Amino acid sequence: MSTSTNNNDKALEVRTHDIPLADAMTEFMKQGWAPSPLEGVKPHKSIPFTTARREKVSKQYPGVRLLFPAGSLKIRSNDSDYQFRAHSAFSWYTGIIASDCVPDSVFVMEPTATGHEALLFIHPRSPRNSDEFYRNARFGEFWIGRRMTLEESETKYGIKVAQIESLAEFLSDKKEALIVRGQDAEVDKLIVERTEAEVEFLNFTSMQRIIKDQYEIDEMQKAIDASVRGFADMVRVFPAATTVARGERVIEGAFYGRARLEGNDNGYPSIVASGAHACVLHWIKNDGDVLPGDLILIDAGVEVESHYTADITRTFPINGKFTEAQRKIYMIVYKAQQAGIAAVKPGAKFKDFHNACMVEIAKGAEELGVLPISAEESLKPEQGLHRRWQFHGSGHHLGIDVHDCAHARKEQYADAVLEAGMILTVEPGFYIQPDDTLFPPEYRGIGVRIEDDILVTQSGAKILSNALPRHPDEVEAYMARILMP
Ligand code: GLY
Ligand code: MN
Ligand code: MN
Repeated sequence: MSTSTNNNDKALEVRTHDIPLADAMTEFMKQGWAPSPLEGVKPHKSIPFTTARREKVSKQYPGVRLLFPAGSLKIRSNDSDYQFRAHSAFSWYTGIIASDCVPDSVFVMEPTATGHEALLFIHPRSPRNSDEFYRNARFGEFWIGRRMTLEESETKYGIKVAQIESLAEFLSDKKEALIVRGQDAEVDKLIVERTEAEVEFLNFTSMQRIIKDQYEIDEMQKAIDASVRGFADMVRVFPAATTVARGERVIEGAFYGRARLEGNDNGYPSIVASGAHACVLHWIKNDGDVLPGDLILIDAGVEVESHYTADITRTFPINGKFTEAQRKIYMIVYKAQQAGIAAVKPGAKFKDFHNACMVEIAKGAEELGVLPISAEESLKPEQGLHRRWQFHGSGHHLGIDVHDCAHARKEQYADAVLEAGMILTVEPGFYIQPDDTLFPPEYRGIGVRIEDDILVTQSGAKILSNALPRHPDEVEAYMARILMP
């Protein structure tokens, strides 16, 4: 934080390539600036939703000060930082979107006689009577652009806003407090650590997000729609990707362009896995060649400004047509996904959709003659041999984090029942490693995953990513429309 003037001090240090400033220039820079308020700042549409979220956490923790640091810039190398992304809990309780969010901000829920007051501590726009605005490469307006003033932030997000430099003093009364620890080392130091209570706090705040409100559902749809356009952008560059070495990077770059254009960033590193790379579950090097005749598995999601992310996988034949072997494996996964999606409904157990997927994966392996026992036997928990070809789970909660609600306990997540308003992925796969001698050579190195984002509704489920084709005939037709319009 910047109570932590640490970051500021560091940024004000003269770097080897900086040109020293003469006193005359320092004086000159103090004068001649007109006021430049932001025009048209309006209350953000998230306000009614963030207010309701805060009311719930307030009721759970009467009398306790709650702190949600946004997190700090992280050095990539020397004086270059990684792009900043606020912590999800900070975003979730404040509604502050990526382009307004200032590193080192801290959101505080301050206990009052009747509940809590929402207080946001930020490093606001630098005034022209200090030299930060042109000298500070990390925070100065001439270096990184304008930040909002305290008043502008208050108007936009409906939260009382104070200067971050006043936080240490504010916390000095040592009131009972809980913090989302590990995001801001400077603030962490000011709050007494209570390990068990902090675990519970993380659990409560994580579980608050398990049922999505309408604002979240709308933002998720935006993220998914942008990602669907990003998939079309990728297919469009397939021919170019086949003409150069490391063509996976061409495709990865095409999606990143869409993520930056329509959103804040990728929600997670894109997996662009051509040929046998598809059998490496977290293939994010993306430095392989793209060869006609192979499949390419792509797992990518746009994170929108509100930080919600899509999580979509498609597997395409690079030249637009599946071979017989590729289609056979693809159809096993397709059927598994259909079965999984059908098992998503309110009242069903979270595990049901995974189990439904696995029945089809086991049956597929049996039909291909690679299972030494029957599918039925293999599906028994003490066997599970079919899992050789899908060793990951078949889905997870999705939202402001790609693996959302990560601090839920087992009984709240894997062993829980689905409810309307949850958003999940359903993502079975079948991966035949290139050295898997149980398969004939033409199958080796084929990896397929199909992943969609599903909203649990009152009556069943809605596939939010339905605009992107899944059936192999539809995939071929879609590719033909893009590549041969
Ligand atoms: N993209 C990460 C996942 O599918 O879980
Ligand atoms: Mn996923
Ligand atoms: Mn994914």
